Amino acid sequence: MLIKNVFLENAKEAVDVRVKDGKFETIAKNITKKAGENVLDLGGKLMLPPFIDSHMHLDSVLTAGEPVWNLSGTLFEGIEIWSKRKQTLTADDVKSRVNRAVRMQAAHGIQHIRTHVDVTDEKLTALKAIVELREELKNFVNIQIVAFPQEGIMSYKNGRALMERAIAEGADVVGAIPHFEYTREYGVESVNFAIELALKHNKLVDIHCDEIDDDASRFLETVATRAYESGLKSKVTASHTTAMGSYNNAYAYKLFRILGKSDINFVSNPHINTHIQGRTDTYPKRRGLTRVKELLANGNNVSFGYDCIQDPWYPLGTGNMLDPVHMGLHVCQMMGYEEILNSYKLVTTNAAKTLSLKNYGIKKGNPASFIILDATNFHEALSTRAPVLYSYKNGNLLASTQPAKTQITF
Ligand code: FE2
Repeated sequence: MLIKNVFLENAKEAVDVRVKDGKFETIAKNITKKAGENVLDLGGKLMLPPFIDSHMHLDSVLTAGEPVWNLSGTLFEGIEIWSKRKQTLTADDVKSRVNRAVRMQAAHGIQHIRTHVDVTDEKLTALKAIVELREELKNFVNIQIVAFPQEGIMSYKNGRALMERAIAEGADVVGAIPHFEYTREYGVESVNFAIELALKHNKLVDIHCDEIDDDASRFLETVATRAYESGLKSKVTASHTTAMGSYNNAYAYKLFRILGKSDINFVSNPHINTHIQGRTDTYPKRRGLTRVKELLANGNNVSFGYDCIQDPWYPLGTGNMLDPVHMGLHVCQMMGYEEILNSYKLVTTNAAKTLSLKNYGIKKGNPASFIILDATNFHEALSTRAPVLYSYKNGNLLASTQPAKTQITF
């Protein structure tokens, strides 16, 4: 197949791309069509590597309002509601909701999803169902599973054993939630446990870390130090870290030293945390996001995740990665032209690094996985919420969208 006239990652001049046997064969200007070759002439559209959702909770998608709506908007009411909904989970329930959500995300050009799956459940119903789906859907979407102890490791009955079982059942990544544990000591212990478990089984680590407005919630320093000392370093990710938005600068300045040395990744979930954080504030009301701009300047890898689609923590959403990018740039005040233009990296190459993906990106010899947006560059794509016209994985078409047509009558 020959794809003609695309602007590759905001390039000013268009190129052509030849795909053969599911791989990128040639990327050059004015490639001549071979006899019988399929040609897709895009007339100047933006080509990007596929979108990645580096932080999603697939097990709870599309359950908003079940059994009740979260009226306080807090993380803690969300956990309360989920612990009730969780009791009614069945494999069919999980699979049908996740199948819908994955297709919603596929329509928006997402080909990789790191999902946290709650393993504080004696039956591990959701985990087992999503492990099966990971296999069933592998040709369409790459699902990476985090064993996520929503109700704690130390503070939940058999928490440690459930984490071990989740790894044995096939989880790819070890999670933790230190700020939700009963005590600070339990929090530190849970981080140490997660690091040791990952070392033992050669797994990645992704910790829900300091997702609270408490400026004294400082588990990030433990996560970074243990990542550094254990040698796991960039195999470790700290998700949310919203308390960083409340730390005093003297402490944050000191913290950045070990964050840099540890080389850990960060995932920020802008629209969920803008919604959830600051709920106990009157005014001034905190924005509740981690220090994205400063972390990037510190050399740490940062990506944006979607986190929730219509669940106990967030009542809206379609899974389109343009949503967190749009919200995140506003809330983090990253609105310079170049920052906007390059912000696609927060949901592509930076996220690929967090997921430790191999052979990701548009270059000769890599799998021909890419998306085409109805725009000429990412500034225009984000401004207009451009649809993903085509999403190809390994040279196969996964999804296509016809742009809507509007007629103005004046
Ligand atoms: Fe999360």
